[in-house]
Amino acid sequence: MQDFHYRDGEMYVEDVPLEALARDHGTPTYVYSRAALTRAYQAYAEALGDHPGMICYAVKANSNLAVLQVLAQLGAGFDIVSGGELQRVMRAGADPARVVFSGVGKTAAEMTEALRAGVHCFNVESAAELEVLAQVAAQMGRTARVSLRVNPDVDANTHPYISTGLKENKFGVDIDQARDVYRRAQALPSLEIIGIDSHIGSQLTELAPFLDALDRILALLDHLAEDGIAIRHLDLGGGLGVTYQDEDPPSPATYINAAKARLGDRQVELVFEPGRSIAAAAGVLLTRVIYLKPTAQRNFAIVDAAMNDNIRPALYQAWQDVKPIRPRNGTANTWDLVGPVCETGDFIAKDRQLNLEVGDCLAMMVAGAYCFAMSSNYNSRGRAAELLIDGQQVHVARVREDFDHLVRGEQLLPQSPV
Ligand code: LLP
Repeated sequence: MQDFHYRDGEMYVEDVPLEALARDHGTPTYVYSRAALTRAYQAYAEALGDHPGMICYAVKANSNLAVLQVLAQLGAGFDIVSGGELQRVMRAGADPARVVFSGVGKTAAEMTEALRAGVHCFNVESAAELEVLAQVAAQMGRTARVSLRVNPDVDANTHPYISTGLKENKFGVDIDQARDVYRRAQALPSLEIIGIDSHIGSQLTELAPFLDALDRILALLDHLAEDGIAIRHLDLGGGLGVTYQDEDPPSPATYINAAKARLGDRQVELVFEPGRSIAAAAGVLLTRVIYLKPTAQRNFAIVDAAMNDNIRPALYQAWQDVKPIRPRNGTANTWDLVGPVCETGDFIAKDRQLNLEVGDCLAMMVAGAYCFAMSSNYNSRGRAAELLIDGQQVHVARVREDFDHLVRGEQLLPQSPV
């Protein structure tokens, strides 16, 4: 997180002190660094080098339009999972020919929209979806390019909620049945088979599960060649982990070089769908201490960010570092940082050694991915503002939600006649 650093006793994002952002824009607020996003994307692009393929950022990790725009301008492709994400990437200026469409539950309407836009490829997740896509494309007089998402049945060794490549998960087609589904796709004239797709889970910190999955995919590719089905690209999904605490995940270069080496003399394009490893370290969540409440059992620091702003601690027992914007000298105490939401599960951090006073501003680190994106209005709390920093420039990427945002679309009953 080199773009978030201490200078003269206070934390900066690029060239802007976070305290000034908290003062001018309020809290809770997400703050993203353009330099960090750029560096993370470039690490992938440079690792791919001149090997044909694409880095398709997984929009779900952080779908703010300004974030997507930064990545689109760098030449990124995008991995989308809904019609809404398709519209977002188009609004951000993405080239639809660099978009892949994943997801287990694409509707016919979403397929139509994506075909009309001209997306590069549909990552088809079931035999049933294949039939619907073929029908939709045929009705439109178009050809849909497809990749079948296979489930290689490898244990990604991550949290069970974010592991996706095991037979018991809902994702993809069992790799042992994939050959039959490919033969069926081959027989459907409105489909053009172009690839094999796989995504085995998220926050992976070891290379082995990726390479095990790749070996199984390469075996499938060879079998398909025997069936006369030529595969142009392998989409290896996302999943590379980041350092929240002491994890030591492989770098994009280590991963991509290992993947390239595994290909042997097979001429295939490589597609990757990283989300977290592009956006996570590019963001922090700024929050302020509202009350200190030491009790006989625990010391609670009640902060103004809550589970509706970042649900990862409550949902996955995820650990994210929390740092003071202006560290104080003196003795630290052990604090649980909890939000104002009326749930015992509303905490953002537990057992942290901090020297706190009311009004202190804190930064929850590595919060650029799956934090704002999973936020909600629970307890009628407006969602946080989002700022994108570029050197000394501060861009309001999303305004803080007010009451009008909260009730937009809701309607009171008509007055009953007297
Ligand atoms: N491709 C597909 C098909 C995916 O399902 C995902 C993430 C990605 C790519 C991007 O994976 P990444 O590079 O970000 O690991 N909310 C959870 C993470 C859910 C990931 C879902 N799929 C969290 O906060 O940890």
